[in-house]
Amino acid sequence: MSNPFNPGAGRKPPYLAGRDDIVRSIEQDMTRVYDDAEGMRPIVISGLRGMGKTVLLRALYDFANQRGWVVVWAEASKDESLSKKLAQSIYVELRKLRSSEKLAGRAFEHALAVLKSFQLKIDPAGACSFGIDVSPAKGYADSGDLSLDLQDLLEALGGAAREAGTAVLICVDELQEAPIEDLRPLNMALHSIGQSFSPVPVFFVGAGLPTLPSVLADASSYAERLYRYYTLDPLSDKSSEKALVEPVAGQGMAWSPEALGLVVQEAAGYPYFIQQCGFSICEQVDGPIELTMVETLAGIELAREELSRGLYRSRWGRATAQGKEFMRAMAQDEGPSKISEIARRMGKGDPSSLSVLRDRLIKDGLIYSPERGLVAFTVPGMDGFINRCGEVD
Ligand SMILES: Nc1ncnc2c1ncn2[C@@H]1O[C@H](COP(=O)(O)OP(=O)(O)OP(=O)(O)O)[C@@H](O)[C@H]1O
Ligand SMILES: [Mg+2]
Repeated sequence: MSNPFNPGAGRKPPYLAGRDDIVRSIEQDMTRVYDDAEGMRPIVISGLRGMGKTVLLRALYDFANQRGWVVVWAEASKDESLSKKLAQSIYVELRKLRSSEKLAGRAFEHALAVLKSFQLKIDPAGACSFGIDVSPAKGYADSGDLSLDLQDLLEALGGAAREAGTAVLICVDELQEAPIEDLRPLNMALHSIGQSFSPVPVFFVGAGLPTLPSVLADASSYAERLYRYYTLDPLSDKSSEKALVEPVAGQGMAWSPEALGLVVQEAAGYPYFIQQCGFSICEQVDGPIELTMVETLAGIELAREELSRGLYRSRWGRATAQGKEFMRAMAQDEGPSKISEIARRMGKGDPSSLSVLRDRLIKDGLIYSPERGLVAFTVPGMDGFINRCGEVD
């Protein structure tokens, strides 16, 4: 039997467990956007590392793609302009549409011309790797003000989709990484297109770490009202069981109740760990899965070791000596830590002396602040890793 489990960043799980409600709710919105040919409030999905944001975003992307939407996907990163990435992805999609006959036509030609104007403004030197072989649309997306130009671009794209009887989905993963010079215009453009009398059918979904809502709010004060927010929590025990049982059902493998119970308990609802555990066990067992197998060779420990390699060790290794000291102090708590307590543990009298270090760790995506005065790890299980291995260096 080939191994059905699929651990790894963004890897599609064999069974997407416990996300029915959120998927259904967003898909309902998308269906309305499509049917009414009108946009709706943009969405933000946030959650810890490995909680399943990318695979959820991909599920929405597939939903739209299968229904003939215009689909745009970008992954934000610190040092690259999100606007350029979006422009590039829009270009790829428009080129596909152009050659597909189905949606070809004047509407998309205009969108392409607006994209050309946009590209000339954001990348006048032509450093972008794509050349658009149409003339720029004069008077569109050429003001030099990124928010207005982005608004023009989204309106042209949405208008074209409406004319062609479809809609546009824009997915941006790791949105918290996007430079503020992009986030502010993005917020403004989404805000403006939403306010028009008949908003074009553009549906935006951004995903990122728990810091994302505050990153967006720092960029524009109205971001809190602009987006609809969803949080991805750990899976319930029942969903965790499903994530483990469904993929092997009918394959001659079966979990004994004790084996299943132990994995569910150890995984604590963490989808990445569930996927890794299922994988490690299936690599070595070809038949009924008993408790001893999970306890010993095939199960928990192996999965934990894999996760250490893939998730924890590299992050830990990148932190400075001071950063490590800070995180070691955090790892003594189960759950979020008080800054004042960390300061005490580190022998610092004044907690505010840690603020630069704290901000650095937040910027690097290692920790976040769930509430004022508190910090927590962005990767579930990081505390356990540090307590087991964090003394090594
Ligand atoms: N609901 C789910 N059911 C089963 N497995 C899941 C679920 N969600 C995610 N997984 C699995 O967990 C792993 C991590 O998923 P994913 O990469 O989407 O997380 P993420 O939140 O995007 O993480 P990161 O913040 O590192 O980008 C993948 O192997 C994926 O298959
Ligand atoms: Mg991801």
